[in-house]
Amino acid sequence: MAFGHRRSLLPVFFLCCLRICYTEHASTYTFVKHAVQAPPVSYYDYIIVGGGTAGCPLAATLSEKHSVLLLERGGSPYGNRNITELAYFSQNLADTSPASPSQRFLSEDGVINARARVLGGGSCLNAGFYTRASPEYVRDVGWDGALVNQSYQWVEKMVAFEPPMLQWQSAVRDGLLEAGITPYNGFTYDHMYGTKIGGTIFDRDGHRHTAADLLQYANPDGLMVLLHATVGRILFRQTGGAARPVAHGVVFHDAAGVRHRAYLNNGAKNEIVVCAGAVGSPQLLMLSGVGPRDHLESLAIDVVVDQPMVGQSMSDNPMNAIFVPSPTPVEVSLIQVVGITRFGSFIEGASGSNFASHYSQITHELRFGMFSAQTGQIFTINDMNDLPAASSSMRGGFILEKIMGPLSTGHLDLKNKNPDDNPSVTFNYFKEPEDLQRCVKGIETIEKVIQSKAFSRFRFQYISTEELLRMALNFPMNLLPKHDNASKSLEQFCKDTVMTIWHYHGGCQVGQVVDKDYKVVGVDALRVVDGSTFNFSPGTNPQATVMMLGRYMGIKIQTERRETDDEVRRKS
Ligand SMILES: Cc1cc2nc3c(=O)[nH]c(=O)nc-3n(C[C@H](O)[C@H](O)[C@H](O)COP(=O)(O)OP(=O)(O)OC[C@H]3O[C@@H](n4cnc5c(N)ncnc54)[C@H](O)[C@@H]3O)c2cc1C
Ligand SMILES: *[C@@H]1O[C@H](CO)[C@@H](O)[C@H](O)[C@H]1NC(C)=O
Ligand SMILES: *[C@@H]1O[C@H](CO)[C@@H](O)[C@H](O)[C@H]1NC(C)=O
Ligand SMILES: *[C@@H]1O[C@H](CO)[C@@H](O)[C@H](O)[C@H]1NC(C)=O
Repeated sequence: MAFGHRRSLLPVFFLCCLRICYTEHASTYTFVKHAVQAPPVSYYDYIIVGGGTAGCPLAATLSEKHSVLLLERGGSPYGNRNITELAYFSQNLADTSPASPSQRFLSEDGVINARARVLGGGSCLNAGFYTRASPEYVRDVGWDGALVNQSYQWVEKMVAFEPPMLQWQSAVRDGLLEAGITPYNGFTYDHMYGTKIGGTIFDRDGHRHTAADLLQYANPDGLMVLLHATVGRILFRQTGGAARPVAHGVVFHDAAGVRHRAYLNNGAKNEIVVCAGAVGSPQLLMLSGVGPRDHLESLAIDVVVDQPMVGQSMSDNPMNAIFVPSPTPVEVSLIQVVGITRFGSFIEGASGSNFASHYSQITHELRFGMFSAQTGQIFTINDMNDLPAASSSMRGGFILEKIMGPLSTGHLDLKNKNPDDNPSVTFNYFKEPEDLQRCVKGIETIEKVIQSKAFSRFRFQYISTEELLRMALNFPMNLLPKHDNASKSLEQFCKDTVMTIWHYHGGCQVGQVVDKDYKVVGVDALRVVDGSTFNFSPGTNPQATVMMLGRYMGIKIQTERRETDDEVRRKS
């Protein structure tokens, strides 16, 4: 069924109001309900799985003219200060309870990682940095550049801001310029060589705006959002042996464990779109029988299509960081500045106890044996509440580098048939030598920033950079062995101190699992739209492009539908 209601562009003054009183508006969404309230069976034109960074803008867009169901396994971000306040950044990552908006996982590489479990997805957990992909990236992917720009603007009107740039961030910026990462490009969302101030989804008051806020664009009559709705399987219909399987529904369970089904309305153009993220999307396809035959059969999953590339080409951009204690107080900040080098390394920083407390928490957990390196399983011997609060005396900041790409890839495999469990993920950090070289050059540049005149008031002169490297090695942010030579050899340092910046992607890549229209190859009425489709991480940080892609594909799907309707009308 189609909705006659056609939205005009919201007047600018109304948008301004929305940005200011977003919490009031967004927390009273009339179309958001808990899945326990859902009927056993329901019907929609579009079913979107995953109310994350891509799923929310896609749902808002498709609701303009169609009936849309958005299923999100997590809860609402509104009213939870761990999400809404910048200063609480590390709290979610430290919260390992089943109700946490962040689900921790440990990759087979031995690096602690996290995936979102909340309406708004990763945009509710992330460090907020907002920056577009380069025009070259857009061209190489084959997107329509004009629509890409319109879609970025649609996102930016609602959730992007200019950061405040206080002393510590300014010192990093000036240090990057002294280190030769030039020219200075000022404040811009654009991806350009040199040093720039990027956007942020935190406003001037430190309040986070997320992809869930993009639901303010939705047509309330066209959208139903169900929270605590975990999709366990996509249902396929096959008419006759030769016909392609057609996705036509999903099975999900609510917080009480009760199963519900949602089906597509009759209509050849109705679709299911999976937006469950780089871990969730390949996992759900496999649970639904779309994946490598042998692997699915080993878990007694009925194969719908043998798709060997599902879960392949998973990548995570390695992050390595140096913590620099400061003799003078620093502001609490997340990422605001980036140095975009020509050698494929991006340099960013975060200051105050914020970032540090996450790692000191993990340090503490590691020390107290909460992680088991042998089995790769995470277990708790202490209640998290018994742990002393992370040290707030961590005065200083992290300067980090993330590499472009990366070229190294890994894979995702199911461990079991439970959609609530993490699959097994391997990223193979630094397997490709180019990745390691990019890291080494990145760390060398960070050393120059630390030694710069501009940064001198935020470091102790008597602590050498080699000592800072040794300190970083004592920050056990991963389960890998540390080597004595790692403070002397930057190759070894990169390997021993590898972390994630949570920009992992792949698993349902364009050209492998989905075609250039994001349609899953080998079946009908099913697309994947999220970070799992990326071959490389876009820009310096991906969220702007993930949100853009949700809007962009919403428009594309609507246009495609209108064009086929016109075609049918012309022929009849
Ligand atoms: C701690 C952290 C810091 C980061 N910092 C930055 C930064 O500063 N700047 C930046 O640009 N990027 C940053 N990122 C990365 C960025 O946030 C992610 O790349 C992006 O959010 C991924 O979007 P997505 O739509 O692919 O997946 P997600 O946003 O994770 O959305 C997937 C959604 O699907 C839901 N889901 C999964 N499986 C199911 C299922 N079976 N049933 C129902 N729902 C399901 C999940 O709960 C989730 O809400 C950071 C990420 C993290 C975690
Ligand atoms: C915020 O995080 C803390 C620490 O991880 C946790 O104990 C608390 O329950 C969280 N609060 C909410 C509202 O989720
Ligand atoms: C999109 O915007 C970027 C700047 O952000 C610009 O460089 C590019 O030319 C624009 N592309 C199109 C097709 O308008
Ligand atoms: C560092 O030492 C380890 C173990 O002694 C060795 O295997 C490794 O090759 C060394 N790294 C470098 C870069 O020399």
